[in-house]
Amino acid sequence: MQAVELLKRRAAEAAVKHVEPGMVVGIGAGSTALKALECISERLAQGTLSDIVGVPCSEQVAADAQRLGIPLTTLESHPCIDLTIDGADEVDPQLRVIKGGGGALLREKIVAQASAREIIIVDARKLSPQLGMQWSLPVEAISFGLRAHVEFVAGLGAKAQVRTGPGGCPFRTDSGNLILDCSFGPIDDPESIAAALEGRAGIVEHGLFLDLVTDLIVASPAGIEHRTR
Ligand code: A5P
Repeated sequence: MQAVELLKRRAAEAAVKHVEPGMVVGIGAGSTALKALECISERLAQGTLSDIVGVPCSEQVAADAQRLGIPLTTLESHPCIDLTIDGADEVDPQLRVIKGGGGALLREKIVAQASAREIIIVDARKLSPQLGMQWSLPVEAISFGLRAHVEFVAGLGAKAQVRTGPGGCPFRTDSGNLILDCSFGPIDDPESIAAALEGRAGIVEHGLFLDLVTDLIVASPAGIEHRTR
């Protein structure tokens, strides 16, 4: 396994130790969260874990979970989640994160808000002194008024690019919306950017998760670090 893949696996293993029998578990999207899904599947197969149900954060995660034999449920059946394990694109020292690199930010945030515990797992490359230094902020918007959304984001200080998928067509989220990847550069005041985006009609969600992360597990060549809020 490549070094970075091994670090993702180590972070996932550390997080999955917190999954206990009987839990409702939120399962995030992305390559690191997929490693957690694999660890859960292995524990179920070994018999060291039982009686859990997963709430997937995307259609792709649901397909992966089914392939790995993890029983699934929905927020309609289980509106309170014990613990969610998810990845992130960038993390600052206050445990604020940017998510949405895979386009699943809306469902990921709904699941995070329904979770008693939100464990974010990353390799050390994702750590940043300030959000926006390494990653554009994904913003999910409806297609009506697209040009106006782009102008609005420009007024907040970012250049927005409509995300494209294979073949150059606009990428569509599981809810059928567009993603604007917004390059802010270092974000001095993420709370006010979040508030401005939340106040704008047509913007459905943004990838700033500012007070949702309860636990951060970072894997680096030096080992595992577990920080809590
Ligand atoms: C999905 O929309 C994202 O929020 C992912 O959790 C994030 O992009 C991290 O993905 P990787 O673990 O693949 O880097």
